[in-house]
Amino acid sequence: MIHRPILVLFSAALAVQAADFKKDIQPILEKHCYECHSEKTGKQKAGYVFDDLETLKLDINPKGAIVPGKPAESHVFVVVSDPNHEAHMPPKGNLSDREISKLRDWITAGAHLTPEAAATAAAPAKPAVLDWTNFEGRTIKAGFVRLDGENVVLKMANGQEIPYPLAKLNEASRKQAQDSAAQ
Ligand code: HEC
Repeated sequence: MIHRPILVLFSAALAVQAADFKKDIQPILEKHCYECHSEKTGKQKAGYVFDDLETLKLDINPKGAIVPGKPAESHVFVVVSDPNHEAHMPPKGNLSDREISKLRDWITAGAHLTPEAAATAAAPAKPAVLDWTNFEGRTIKAGFVRLDGENVVLKMANGQEIPYPLAKLNEASRKQAQDSAAQ
């Protein structure tokens, strides 16, 4: 029987391209919000400040005004995106649809303030555990790490990475190693 690599298990590595705070979000806040919510100018209406990241960070948490991953539960997003909200922001006018969708994407992706934080969160999951069978018919369970010359590097249950000669695997497992490397 030919073992097919299980594509689904690798999908975590294909994380959605997250909006970048500095590039995509800060300009929106600067244009529409700083005027009245700014550490620098001292205007902190309703206690919200959007130009000081240390202060903004305090609002980003599961119980905060910006809930990572959940735009619909994020008060800041709700007052901006719902034109009929009693506390609609900004008080006059609306953000463009494009600006709203950027905000939504950014919050959905975790509301990270730096690319480093976003990258850490999007780090690929541990390798999926697969069956590997050698030409003697013995099977072990291990995660695929990479191909290394004539070896496949496998991650054992105890976390140890061991190189195993491709030539000692049966045909299906060798193909599994090559397919995994091509992901
Ligand atoms: C012209 C000034 C002004 C601008 C621009 C502005 N705000 Fe406000 N904002 C206020 C004031 C004033 C309040 C307090 C409103 C109140 O308590 O009635 C407030 C309150 C809020 C609140 C709390 C709402 C609530 O439930 O009471 C949030 C969240 C908020 N602003 C976010 C924003 C965001 C995000 C932007 C930019 C898209 C923005 N504001 C732009 C003046 C402004």
